[in-house]
Amino acid sequence: MDRSWHDSLFFITKAVGIFSFKFKITFIIKGLTMISLTSVEKSFPDNQVLRDISFDIQRGERVSLTGPGGCGKTLILKILLGLVKADRGDVYLYDQDMTTASASEKEAVMKKTGMAFQQGGLFDFMSVRENIEFAMKHMTDYSPEYMLKRCQQLLEGVRLAKTENMYPHELSGGMKRRVGIARALCTDPVIALFDEPTSGLDPVTSTIILNMIQDLAGKEGHDKTLLIATSNVEIAVRFAERVIVLNEGTVVADGLWRDLLLNGPEWVRHFLGVRFIGLDLEYARELKLPEEFIRQHWNF
Ligand SMILES: Nc1ncnc2c1ncn2[C@@H]1O[C@H](COP(=O)(O)OP(=O)(O)OP(=O)(O)O)[C@@H](O)[C@H]1O
Ligand SMILES: [Mg+2]
Repeated sequence: MDRSWHDSLFFITKAVGIFSFKFKITFIIKGLTMISLTSVEKSFPDNQVLRDISFDIQRGERVSLTGPGGCGKTLILKILLGLVKADRGDVYLYDQDMTTASASEKEAVMKKTGMAFQQGGLFDFMSVRENIEFAMKHMTDYSPEYMLKRCQQLLEGVRLAKTENMYPHELSGGMKRRVGIARALCTDPVIALFDEPTSGLDPVTSTIILNMIQDLAGKEGHDKTLLIATSNVEIAVRFAERVIVLNEGTVVADGLWRDLLLNGPEWVRHFLGVRFIGLDLEYARELKLPEEFIRQHWNF
């Protein structure tokens, strides 16, 4: 074969190869990666809050984002939803670039995403039912009959069936949080984000809320992507196997919590472990703490 023809053929084959490889990678990334942050930075005057934040969350994954108060968890959720703009870095929700998204693109993303805010975020002037239906009216094309049915079903799920016509000021903190979670899930979102779903609540209500998120999400298909932000390590590990640990605005660990508890960097081992030391042994076993950790800290 003529040399130049041979070179051209080689080039074409290579180009097709690279193209299909790139196409495949893009396809895979678009199909599976639901949340993606790469080298995200965010500062406020005199306060650099987020430094080089990178992580990906795949479709169907359940992840806890944890770290001490003020480390940047809520800010990350706001950046993900396009409510706050990152100074630098890439932010994708589904395959939407949230750093450049227009208002209508953000709205399209919001329609597929459930969000329960740290403070409940209910409209004070609307009843519980109106709050939940408001989300469905704006984010779905459900019929009025289905909206009512779904609202009642979710309120039963969060054990608040009788509060349908009550207003937020008539509810306790825990009840408001439960309504907020029902509202986040009522639109059957593909991705659901929960900010401190249990903070300030008693252990029994916290357990109810946690089970509720898992049950509601579990019942409605296992390809839901769920992310909770919490400074409560016990809640973080009860919610998900994978935890992303932040400290002072950087990701200091990302992995399976049992591995990090035993083999993570010292600060991470301490941050995760300190919560468990002194727990009732039976409860430690219920949490499935690693046997090695139990042997080390329960002195046998
Ligand atoms: N709009 C803002 N303007 C100035 N500083 C901000 C703003 N939003 C967040 N911050 C700062 O960013 C830091 C991280 O805040 P963020 O709310 O993300 O923390 P967090 O990890 O969610 O804390 P907590 O566990 O208490 O909820 C804090 O120092 C906070 O003061
Ligand atoms: Mg927060």
